[in-house]
This record gives sequence, C-alpha cells and structure tokens, in this order.
Amino acid sequence: MSKPPKHILLGISGGIAAYKSCELVRLLRKQGHSVSVAMSRAAAEFVAPQTFQALSGQSVWTDHSAAAGNGMAHINLSREADVFLIAPASANTLAKIAHGLADNLLTTLAAARACPLAVAPAMNVEMWRNPANLRNIAQLQADGITVFGPASGSQACGETGQGRMLEAAELAELLPDLWTPKLLAGKRVLLTAGATFEAIDPVRGITNLSSGRMGVALAQACRAAGAEVVLVAGQLQVAPPAGVAVHHAHSAQAMHDAVMREACACDIFIGVAAVADYRVANRSAEKLKKDGSGTPPTIELAENPDILAAVAHLPDAPFCVGFAAESHHVLEHARAKRLRKGVPLIVANSVADAMGSASNQVTLISGSGETALPEMGKRDTADAIVAEIARLLGQAG
Ligand code: C5P
Repeated sequence: MSKPPKHILLGISGGIAAYKSCELVRLLRKQGHSVSVAMSRAAAEFVAPQTFQALSGQSVWTDHSAAAGNGMAHINLSREADVFLIAPASANTLAKIAHGLADNLLTTLAAARACPLAVAPAMNVEMWRNPANLRNIAQLQADGITVFGPASGSQACGETGQGRMLEAAELAELLPDLWTPKLLAGKRVLLTAGATFEAIDPVRGITNLSSGRMGVALAQACRAAGAEVVLVAGQLQVAPPAGVAVHHAHSAQAMHDAVMREACACDIFIGVAAVADYRVANRSAEKLKKDGSGTPPTIELAENPDILAAVAHLPDAPFCVGFAAESHHVLEHARAKRLRKGVPLIVANSVADAMGSASNQVTLISGSGETALPEMGKRDTADAIVAEIARLLGQAG
C-alpha cells in the first residue's frame, strides 16, 4: 500500500530554526518526496543555500535566482508543488502573508500559490504572544492556512516559552496529514497504547513486550484522517504522536481510570494497549530482599478491569475497536473475543508477528465479515483500519 510521493515546496524565512529545516529536507526525501527549497535573504544569513542544494538535490531559489530566466518562478514553483510549507516562518513573513503583501520571493509565492500552504512559526515567546502576531495567526487560519505548532520550551534567545519551531521529525510526521482523506472529520477518538506495568515493589514489576508502535501509528492515522485524538499511553518504546493529547497511565487500573474519564466524550474508542490481566495484590512498599531462608516471596495476583469491555458496555458507548494478539488459533480466539467484549470490530494478529515489530499482518473481523490485510508497515495497517472504521460508521449512520 505504498503512497504516491509528493512534490514539496519548502520556504525558509530568517530564523535560527532554519538549521532544523536541513533535517526536515532529509526526512521528507527519506519518505520518498521531492523537495524544492526557496529561501528569503534573511534565511541565507543563517544557513547557506548550498546546504539545502546538497540536501534537496536541486538548485535553491532565492529572490535573486527567481528574477532570472523568464522571471516567473514566483508563479511556477507552487504550480509544480503539491504543498507549500514555510518552516521556519518568521513573525515578519507571517504578518506579510496575513495581509497579502508580496515583496520578496516567499511572500509572492504565498500570494500566487495554487496549492495548500502550511506554516511552522518560529519566534521569541514575546513576539509570539504579541497581539498583532496572534491576530495574524488567526487570520492565516481563517484563510485556510495550516499552522503547525509552535512548541513551548527553551529558546535560542535564552528565554523560555511558546514560539519554538516544531522539530523536523514532527513536521515530517504532520505534513502528510494535508493530503490524507478526512475520513474521520469531526470525530473524537480515544486510544490506549503500549504496555502496562504492574508494580511488585518500588523497583520491580510485571510488564510485556508491547512497543506501542501499533497504537501510536493508529493515533497518527486517526489524526491524519481529521479526528481529534486523545491517547492514553502505557510504556512506549517509540515517540508519542505529534498533534495528539497524551495522558500517561502506567498500571492497568490507572489506564482504566484515565479512559473512563474520557470515554463519554468520544465517538470512537480503540483499545490497542497490551493490558495486564492481573495486578499484584500484595505489592510491597519496600524493595523485596532475599531473607536467606531460601523461600522465595509469594506474589498474589488480583484481576484487572477489562477496559475495552467496560467502555463497550457504557450506556452511550462509543464505536469500540479491540485488538486480539494471539499465539495460536488466532481467528477463532479473535471471533470469540469480539462477541465476549461486545465490540463491533476486532483486529486479529499473531503475537509472533505483532509484538515489537515494525510491520504486521492483521485480519479485520466485524459483524459484516472478515478481511485479511497483507503484511505491511504498522502505519499502513493503521490507515487501513481507519478506512474500515469509517466504512462501518457510515453503515451504522
Ligand atoms: O482479553 P485480551 O487482553 O486478549 O483482549 C485484547 C483487547 O482488549 C485489546 O484491545 C486490549 O487493549 C483490550 N484490553 C483492555 N483491558 C484489559 C485487557 C485487554 O482494554 N484489561
């Protein structure tokens, strides 16, 4: 299910965050896209155009080079692009675009664009908070321009606060959302992901091999499909998704409580986490020690709540999706689990395939039939699951 590559026009305005855009070009090309870079005069003071030329494999456009030839680069470049991203976008460039000014290559490209525009602001916290800037940002959004970030944190100027450009990896993750069909527009999705951890004592616990990759991929796929996404995360071995509200909950009980707080406000619940069936009933407040008697300590177990079943049995339950990772008789167990938990859709896979790996092969089991998907990367699997959820919701509605 490989996705067609896109052509991205990357505008770089003046700001120290321009160094992050070098990595962004590399990541976008790694995703298979081609990238043309257009730089403002101020941007070239931070990173030399030659750096972007080498990374993009194409000549870099500047005010000077755009004026050469037929002088129509400011028109043609966005005609050739699927999307125009300005990262970093300075307060000055954003203000000009918000007002339709066109006095250099970047702003002229924005004014004359024939493709979607996204901007990743980067500026000092006080510049970001300035009412004039916030007015401009609101205007850009009202004009249909996507604004990525900015994030909060320490800034190059030494101050701390909102205004940091998103990291290259986050922008490379969010950009493809622009051309993803909005199958879940207006929906609120709640997911669990990762492994739970049941404490035995302050340093030891019972956990499992789930990496959280499938849950994170599904959260990304739901966000890309236009949903508002809340993720309740156990232990993750991968970065949490960008643009998603994340609550951390390590034990099954904490995960249950966090989910139940959110469940009524969501349209779709997807339980991807590998939740421990049992917790330690006699958890020790002190680290357990060998006492020299040769008798190992006894660990007593108590059953954990079944989060998926609890959500599915709520009076006004959201559309619920469960996962069944089994070692044997995968489909039989998954079919029985769908009925037992009372959910409309179960995603079945074998533990050997699924746990910790980057790809998997799943079968979608619903009341209307079963579909075995080919083995593919977890994000592709996630996109296919989202398509199936949208299809089933369409049937239900
Ligand atoms: O019962 P089993 O663990 O095999 O079911 C797997 C499905 O149920 C997954 O979707 C998992 O996230 C969910 N689950 C849950 N709470 C539990 C156990 C499993 O939500 N305590």
